Parts: sequence; C-alpha cells; structure tokens
Amino acid sequence: MRVLGLETSCDDTGVAIYDSGRGLLAHRLFSQELIHADYGGVVPELASRDHVRKVLPLVRAVMVEASTPSSAIDGVAYTAGPGLVGALLVGAAIGRALAFAWQVPALGVHHMEGHLLSPMLEPDPPTFPFLALLVSGGHTLLADVRAVGDYTILGESLDDAVGEAFDKTAKLLGLGYPGGPAIAKTAEAGVAGRFRFPRPMTEKPGLSFSFSGLKTAVVNAARGHALDEQTVADIAHGFQEAAVDTLVIKCKRALKQTGHQRLVVAGGVSANRLLRERMASMAAARGSKVHYPRPEFSTDNAAMIAYTGCLRLAAGQHDDLAFGAYPRWEIDQLPKVI
Ligand code: KG4
Ligand code: ZN
Repeated sequence: MRVLGLETSCDDTGVAIYDSGRGLLAHRLFSQELIHADYGGVVPELASRDHVRKVLPLVRAVMVEASTPSSAIDGVAYTAGPGLVGALLVGAAIGRALAFAWQVPALGVHHMEGHLLSPMLEPDPPTFPFLALLVSGGHTLLADVRAVGDYTILGESLDDAVGEAFDKTAKLLGLGYPGGPAIAKTAEAGVAGRFRFPRPMTEKPGLSFSFSGLKTAVVNAARGHALDEQTVADIAHGFQEAAVDTLVIKCKRALKQTGHQRLVVAGGVSANRLLRERMASMAAARGSKVHYPRPEFSTDNAAMIAYTGCLRLAAGQHDDLAFGAYPRWEIDQLPKVI
C-alpha cells in the first residue's frame, strides 16, 4: 500500500510518500522559521496562509521524486490534530480533496502518534511493548505502548510542555525562535554549576511533569544578573541540565514501574543531543535500549504521518467524506489496530 502523508499542524509544511513494501520513498519539508522569527513565536494566521501556498507544490515535488503518479497512490493521510486549528484545516481539506479526486480512502492522523511511531522508520525499530516519552512544543507525556493504538498515558505535564519551556527560556534570554536548538547551542559555552535550577516533581513519587517552576527559577536568575554573553550561556546551560535531568529521572522511574526494557524518545525535544546522551547512559546502566527517530524526524515531518496513516489505512480504517481538525485530541482515545 502506498500512502501520501501531509503535515500542517504548526509551522512546518511536510509532505511524504510511504510504501508498505518499499518504505519511505520521498519526503519534503518547508520550515516557516523565517516567517515567524520576527514575532518570537508562531503566528497562527501566517502559518495557515503559508501552508496554503506550500502544500500542493510539495505534493507535486514528492510525487515526482517517488516516481508515483496519482494512480499509484492507495490512500491519503493528513494530520488532523492536535495543533493549530487553521493550520490543521489546510492539510485536512487538501488531503481529503485529493483522496476524493483520486477515489482512494483518506484518514486523519494523530500528530503525537506520528511522533510515537517515528522510530519505526529507522533501521533498528523497537518491538512492542515499550515505554514512550513524547516531548514537543505542546506535549510532554509518558505512555505505556502495547501495540498501535493501544496506549495508556502514565504521566503528562500539568502546565508547560518541555519544548515550550525551552522556547520561553530562549525568548527571555534573547536567543530567538525556535528556542530549543538556540538554547542547546548557547549552552555549549556555559559554565557548569554556576546556575543550578530545580528538577521539578522529581522529589515526589509519580510520573507527572511540571515545568512552570523551572521557568520561574530561570526568570528570577535572569532578573538578578546583568545578561552579558557569558551569563546567558551559563543560564542556558543550567536550564538545559535541569530540563534533561528531569526527563531522564522520570523515564528511569517509569521503566522501573512498567518493567519495560525498550524506551522510545520522540518529538521535537528528542533532537536535543544532551538528552540523547543522558538517556542512553541511564538506559545502558539498567540494560535497557533507547530508540529515537533520526534527528531530522524528531521535529515535525510528514514521513511519520504517511507511515502512521499507512498502518491504519492498511488495517481498513478511514474517514468518511467529512473531514475534521481537532486542536485537542487525547492519544489514548485512538482506535486500536488489530
Ligand atoms: O515536535 P515539534 O517539532 O513540534 C511540535 O509538535 O510542537 O517540537 C518543537 C519543539 C520546540 O519547542 C523546539 O524548541 C523543540 O521542539 N526543539 C528542541 C530542539 N529542537 C527542537 N528542544 C531542545 N533541543 C533541541 N535541539
Ligand atoms: Zn510535533
């Protein structure tokens, strides 16, 4: 089965073609980074308008690259949520219309399930069951994953997502948008130990996260010091250490609690090098294995949407002619794939 996938949930326009027999055939991404940079964050209306401009040219490019005429496409998958409603509607409307014209089934895919399954596109994919840590701009969650669509949420953030904490810290320190890569780069020049921030919710039992206290600690540190280049690097370093440590402590606890030996870490923040290193040593010390998407597929992309859509369409799941966009959509509400 060959599936066209569209991703337009936030500020990246992604298009990909995945074939169940041959794997990923082509994928393209247009990042709107420059459009939103001046505003220090994503402007939803500008995001929607640019998706309108980019989706179809990218569809054409990907079809050419994959030597795939429309007659060879067996289904269309688009991100239906969670995300920005206007941005989601662009991919949903175009995806649904293409499937109608080509007389193939269409399916709205859950963006976070796409992230969760993204390591399946790598050479050494995890086998079920496993523990998953999903860390993006909008979500921080730990899930017990038994099969496709069979998920139990073990813990979520009670306030800010960890990616959001990276973005807000970067903004505060004048490092621009998007914040994650900027913090990671700046932290390289930071002095270890000058700023030590709290590891929120790690003292108490449980698997919930909270990043607003860490954010407040960073705000207080920034207010109390002249923000010269070295101090900015030192704060970025202290923040990154605290955020990464918190995620690693919670994963270690969840592995112990569930007895899982495999851990998937995915979503934009999983591109972070320090997180990958620390998670790998924690896992190695207890004989567990961590699976990541390649860094390019840590952040938003359509390869994960085409792949997830292909699994579900191949199992006979599809939408009717109406299409939807769901800004809020819980991952544990998805149907199972049997
Ligand atoms: O998954 P994603 O691309 O979009 C959402 O679904 O939200 O995640 C974006 C988030 C942003 O908050 C961004 O700052 C963060 O991932 N991010 C990183 C890194 N690269 C992206 N955070 C830390 N280190 C990175 N290298
Ligand atoms: Zn994402």
